[in-house]
Amino acid sequence: MTAIVGPSGSGKSTLLYCLSGLEKSVSGLVSLLGKEITQMGVSELTRFRRRHLGFVFQSYNLITSMTVEENLALPFTLRGKRLPRQKSDELLRYFGLEGQKKKSVTLLSGGEQQRVALARVLLSDVDIIFADEPTGALDQESGAKVMQVLKSLAVDSGKTVVVVTHSDEVAGQCDRIVEVRDGHVLNADAEGGARA
Ligand SMILES: Nc1ncnc2c1ncn2[C@@H]1O[C@H](COP(=O)(O)OP(=O)(O)O)[C@@H](O)[C@H]1O
Ligand SMILES: [Mg+2]
Repeated sequence: MTAIVGPSGSGKSTLLYCLSGLEKSVSGLVSLLGKEITQMGVSELTRFRRRHLGFVFQSYNLITSMTVEENLALPFTLRGKRLPRQKSDELLRYFGLEGQKKKSVTLLSGGEQQRVALARVLLSDVDIIFADEPTGALDQESGAKVMQVLKSLAVDSGKTVVVVTHSDEVAGQCDRIVEVRDGHVLNADAEGGARA
């Protein structure tokens, strides 16, 4: 689990977008799971992203015209598959959202929407999760729960989690901290608070 930290406007989100193939960098290369994604064409990259990468953003990136369950089903629909309903119901129960699945996501609180976004990532069983200030819009308690889930993805499920954060507390829980300043990485090799 890696934290990306740095002042506002320093390039944290840009770095995350380049790492996850959402944005093209003008130089350098990005290698994920042994594949150089900077060499991939658009359709290969899209397939790779759908299969292996998950995203959690500050603004939840849920489809507001859909219900909770439809949002969870989206990554499967895009792959021509069906939502695994039992697993999906289990996750909704875990997140305390079991009564909400037929509701439009716009009727949910911020904390609930972020948990739907997380449930969607968990359900799609990707290898790498990129999170851009996932607790930024949440109260402390909801934020702590979201971080707990991200951490357990790394610790219990062996996933790679890359999280952009302003919070020293969040960064301190990560295995590694990457500091960004004025568009440059200061300390790519630094160890995080887990050791300190
Ligand atoms: N390495 C870079 N080279 C060129 N432009 C960059 C670089 N890093 C960031 N920027 C630009 O700086 C601005 C702020 O970056 P952003 O990633 O949104 O910062 P942060 O997420 O840290 O607040 C954006 O307009 C982005 O395009
Ligand atoms: Mg940002």
